[in-house]
Amino acid sequence: MLISLSLHPYGLFFFQVTSGGTESILMACKAYRDLAYERGIKYPEIIAPVSAHAAFDKAAHYFGMKMVHVPLDKKTMKVDVKAMRRAISKNTAMLVCSAPQFPHGVIDPIEEVAQLALKYNIPFHVDACLGGFLIVFMEKAGFPLPPFDFRVKGVTSISADTHKYGYAPKGSSVILYSHKDYRHYQFFVASDWPGGLYASPSVAGSRPGGIVAACWATMMHMGEDGYVEATKNIISTARFIIKELQKIKEIFIFGNPEVSVIAIGSEVFDIYRLSNSLTAKGWNLNTLQFPSSIHICLTLLHTKPGVAQNFVKDVQDSLSVIMEDPGAKTTGVGAIYGMAQTIPDRSLVTEISKAFLDCLYLTELPPSAKQTNGSTGHH
Ligand SMILES: Cc1ncc(COP(=O)(O)O)c(C=O)c1O
Repeated sequence: MLISLSLHPYGLFFFQVTSGGTESILMACKAYRDLAYERGIKYPEIIAPVSAHAAFDKAAHYFGMKMVHVPLDKKTMKVDVKAMRRAISKNTAMLVCSAPQFPHGVIDPIEEVAQLALKYNIPFHVDACLGGFLIVFMEKAGFPLPPFDFRVKGVTSISADTHKYGYAPKGSSVILYSHKDYRHYQFFVASDWPGGLYASPSVAGSRPGGIVAACWATMMHMGEDGYVEATKNIISTARFIIKELQKIKEIFIFGNPEVSVIAIGSEVFDIYRLSNSLTAKGWNLNTLQFPSSIHICLTLLHTKPGVAQNFVKDVQDSLSVIMEDPGAKTTGVGAIYGMAQTIPDRSLVTEISKAFLDCLYLTELPPSAKQTNGSTGHH
């Protein structure tokens, strides 16, 4: 579905529904690469914080762009704007910020980066895939934020996932542009194909209209009031958990998480032990690296009565066991993550990860199974 334009309180913007956050990001990068080519840039570069989603690395890989990673301010976990300015060159095709970023749930300094975008006339993408459908409702929910969208002059595109906090089924997201011209660079047209005039807006050819319809139905069902209510519940739960975790001296929270993701680290024990322990108690946390950390991503489920209190209690109980021997070795998944970070040859980690993917798609039966049922293993 291609919807040419829409009115919003800040003026006119141009958008398209995609299959997910990654596709929205891919499309923005493809658009800015083609714009860069037109501007005479032969080797376009994406300048993004190290915390930006790996979909930007994927875009760079797919579209023959160079990824220039910018470090974070170690205290705030926001992108270091001075370092971003230094990274800008004649090859820069686009700047990136996240609102918020996945690892630590921190919103980058969008207004400051927009100043750079304007000064050097570079497109600027704000990735709000994760929190887009929370941050827009936060003001009405009683948690105002500094502006992060087209209100900020210099922001030229935004990705926001309807299939995350929009509560739509998996397979939908939106990419928005401040100007129609940017979206034009996203399109692909094969004008001489014998099959007809082929004009395609995004990566996919045939696309699943059912998911887009389900997304629309979800949004109509939720309504603005529903989203504001959900946001109020999620953000107040996050603020409660942050307040309680800040009282625990053996752990710390990364930066100032303003939305729904809270990342935790420790200076006195291996944080992956806490992850193992909480997983065993039934919590689903994400394991992060560089630096070692874990995060909880709060959803509506965590806002149910008593759930947040139980989480805090399980952290406290886990810590009382861990602190009996703070130097103890980490086992299980935590140990794998700890080890993977120490391997200097990253190509080895890449190879092992590819072997893991191979296993996921393995259709061949192991030899013992072949003998018993006579199968060839090919399906
Ligand atoms: C900040 C951010 N950007 C992009 C994505 C990619 O979204 P998707 O998994 O829908 O492709 C995610 C996913 O978690 C994200 O957190």
